[in-house]
Amino acid sequence: MIKVLVIGSGGRCDAICRKIKESELVDFVFCAPGNAGIARHAINIPINVEEIDKLADFALKEKIDLTIVGPEASLSLGIVNKFNDLGLKIFGPTKEAALIESSKSFAKELMKKYNIPTANYEVFTDYNNAINYIKNKKLPIVLKYDGLAAGKGVIIAKTYEEANTNLYEMLVNKEFGEAKVVIEDFLEGEEFSYMCFVNGSKVYKMIPARDYKRINDNDLGPNTGGMGAFTSLPFLTPADEDFAYQEIMVKTADALVKEGKPFLGVLYGGLIKTEDGIKVIEFNARFGDPETEVVLHSLDSDLYKAIIDIMNGNEPTLIFDKRPTLGVVLTSIGYPGKYEKGVKLFIPPFDDGYVYHMGTKLENDNIVTNGGRVLMCVASGYTLEEARVNAYEMIKEIDTKNLYYRKDIGLKFI
Ligand code: AMP
Ligand code: GLY
Repeated sequence: MIKVLVIGSGGRCDAICRKIKESELVDFVFCAPGNAGIARHAINIPINVEEIDKLADFALKEKIDLTIVGPEASLSLGIVNKFNDLGLKIFGPTKEAALIESSKSFAKELMKKYNIPTANYEVFTDYNNAINYIKNKKLPIVLKYDGLAAGKGVIIAKTYEEANTNLYEMLVNKEFGEAKVVIEDFLEGEEFSYMCFVNGSKVYKMIPARDYKRINDNDLGPNTGGMGAFTSLPFLTPADEDFAYQEIMVKTADALVKEGKPFLGVLYGGLIKTEDGIKVIEFNARFGDPETEVVLHSLDSDLYKAIIDIMNGNEPTLIFDKRPTLGVVLTSIGYPGKYEKGVKLFIPPFDDGYVYHMGTKLENDNIVTNGGRVLMCVASGYTLEEARVNAYEMIKEIDTKNLYYRKDIGLKFI
């Protein structure tokens, strides 16, 4: 009997659990802590993603055959190191390899050392030195707090005054704790997310996806966790993809091996196609959210078997639907600022397309909101336009009185 544990509670974990449950090799899927939608495929276990000792106890007691980690929070707490010490099989990077996401300065230094294309940068701990550096720099300039700051650590300053104020907050007032800031040049171009399965130097690609970070249409307003995504990117040529694979993803996996921090898990390249080629904006050490909902939605082959093959050093079978897939995120009103939780949801069943749950829970047999990002409607089509129409048609069937969504996902590319 094969039992799999997935750690996390968002749309990404709903997509992972759904695919793992589809595998004929898997008997039971557990998810900690899960959500109302994840309960369709998994048994939810009320343990939070930071409670790594409790998660390990659960995996030992239940004799879990494989654990898959969703969020970064568990990785940087060393969940993989802990499970490895206990002889528990887990798919994700160690705390050391996950530095590629948790420390912007580690990632930038690695890229510089191994000639992986990225924006020019310097690292600062001293406010006056930082101010002197930006004096001669072109605007806008990008400031990145060197640690995890829940998506709030990146400032694109359009004026020197804005840069100074933010540097003061980060380096003098120590807004996010330890004071270290990466200052880098602003890159212009089309952004895309490229997720690959990695085991040491072996790298297996998934299909690239586009994510939408800003809350409002036309990429306006504050940053969010992601408001929508789609696959089959019209601006990426096969040569671009080859470059991103060879010169960025494979090189980075090799670099981590050479640094004594071999990576196991999903390496996520946040990339940008600029006039002078494809460059790295950031790396993540896990599946992206909401990209995973469209990418795994398109995966036609067995995810569990692929992960086991990759972990055993064998070539996995990864077959993706060639049709474009597009997803629109529905959020609580007020997100990414303050919002209400516990609002009742009515979601009809769909024959085509799928509603992934991002922030929901069951309360007295009702599905209610339980987060900023609530649902994601995902659909495919033979063209991007058709995928977009299909996803927005799904939203019409949902009561969106208490929800917000962007109207322009995929629009610019049709
Ligand atoms: P990050 O947390 O590093 O992904 O940054 C969040 C977002 O800020 C990215 O998705 C980009 O849209 C933007 N960004 C970060 N760094 C740069 C850069 N060097 N040039 C342009 N945009 C950037
Ligand atoms: N969609 C961006 C992320 O997962 O970090």
